[in-house]
Parts: sequence; structure tokens; C-alpha cells
Amino acid sequence: MSQKKSWFGKNKKVDSQSILSDNNIPRHVAIIMDGNGRWARRRGLPRIAGHHSGMKNVKKITIAADDIGIEILTLYAFSTENWTRPQDEVDYLMSLPQEFFPLEIDELVQKNVRIRMTGWKEGVPVHTLEAVENAIERTKHNTGLILNFAFNYGSRKELTEAMRELVRDVQSGSLKLEDITEEEYSKRLQTAGLPDPDLLIRTSGELRISNFMLWQLAYTELLFTDLYWPEFSENDFYEAIREYQSRIRRYGGL
Ligand code: IPE
Ligand code: IPE
Ligand code: MG
Repeated sequence: MSQKKSWFGKNKKVDSQSILSDNNIPRHVAIIMDGNGRWARRRGLPRIAGHHSGMKNVKKITIAADDIGIEILTLYAFSTENWTRPQDEVDYLMSLPQEFFPLEIDELVQKNVRIRMTGWKEGVPVHTLEAVENAIERTKHNTGLILNFAFNYGSRKELTEAMRELVRDVQSGSLKLEDITEEEYSKRLQTAGLPDPDLLIRTSGELRISNFMLWQLAYTELLFTDLYWPEFSENDFYEAIREYQSRIRRYGGL
């Protein structure tokens, strides 16, 4: 349907997950879900129609991730910079959790999915937070895929706050200056307890990180596709995993 090509080039399509190798499934996949507005504009629709369509895509890709045994799927849904958008768009985005969770939670529960949020509650309207917190509460004993929403998340804020916490701990004497390690720093990030993403996918053709997990992406494999988020299908997702499986991760070694 789309005239655009994905990063895989050659427009080769796979039919299913069957070509994936079972023993090299990324544990943690993160997606910058971008391009909702442009997807809508291309159809002569208002931007919020793109956000609605993007929301619909979340469950599809979550199920696809779960089906192949991915442990954590992090979806960048709202950045600390997205507050600068027009108020009506922000209001709409803040209404999406109330729409998404009641609609999808039963199936997510049935799939043993656990909801988590990475980001700050401050500034998020109460009705939005309630929807997210209910979903977290309802799924807190689930042991399957972690569906982690980066919501009101920004990496510089995260790094700054972690730094502040480290300094506070040193000042109070609970941490020695020489005990500041990468591990101690990681523990104070929003993603504490999660492994770093193995694979980052960004849709919409933008080649940037947009303040997403600057620390955690140090050795993440990056994939960029021209597809807009609402049109990014399960097959596109599996192709991304296949591309990941063809990479050689060297971590600076040989
Ligand atoms: C991504 O789509 C969703 C959010 C950032 C909330 P955009 O709204 O950024 O869509 P484009 O990039 O303008 O097409
Ligand atoms: C990144 O997309 C944030 C999310 C997808 C939530 P943006 O559309 O906000 O990023 P920029 O402005 O193009 O860098
Ligand atoms: Mg965008």
C-alpha cells in the first residue's frame, strides 16, 4: 500500500516469523513510534487520526513481539518535548491511554503481558495516569512480555536526575565517591532493572534519537525505516528482527 521502501531495501517481503532464527531473538526491542502526523496528512486526515491509528498498531506489534519470545518491548509514546505541541494535540495524546487500555487490556492479560511505564508522572493529567496505573496494577503479577511505555520520558532529564541522586547519596554518606560506577548510575535511571535495548527501531524516516535512552543505547543495534508507524506491520517487525539477526555485535572487540 505504501510507495515508500523500508530500510531492508529491495522491497523483499517475508511472509511470517518462520525465517527467524530461534536462538538469536533480541531480549529488549525499543521502538520510536514516529510518523503518525504525516501518515494522517498523506490521507488528508487530521493529525489526531494518525495518533488513533498509531494506537491501534500498538497491540499488533506487541502480540508479534510476544509471539517470537521477545522479553521487553519499549515503545516511545510521548517525549518530554512533546508538551510543546498544540494543546488540542497534547490533550488527544493524553486521552489515548484511557482509550487503549480498556480496549486491549483483556487480551494483554490473557497473553500474560506486564505493563510498565518509563517516564515521569508529574505533569501528566490525573485521568491519563489512572488509566496507566490501573493497567500496571492489573498486570503486575504477569510474567510474560514486559510492555514498557516511555511516556513523558526524556533522556537528558533522566540522566540529570540520576546525577542529582548520585550527588545526594554521596553528600549523605550512603555512597562513596569512588563507588560511583556505571552500575550505580544505571540503577538510578528510569530503566533500572531492565537490560539495555538490543535493537532500536525508528519509523518515519527520521535519522535521529530525539532524546531517547542516550545512555542505554550505547551498544544497541539501530534500524531506521521510512514506513510511518501506523503502517508498520507485523511483517515489517519480523523483517527488522531478521535484519538484527544478520548483524554482528562487536562491542568494541574483534
Ligand atoms: C509520533 O508521531 C507520535 C508522537 C510523537 C506522540 P508524530 O506525531 O511525531 O508524527 P509526525 O512525525 O509529525 O509525522
Ligand atoms: C519522537 O518523535 C518522540 C516519540 C515518538 C514519542 P518526535 O516526532 O517527537 O521527534 P522529532 O521532533 O521529530 O525529533
Ligand atoms: Mg514525529
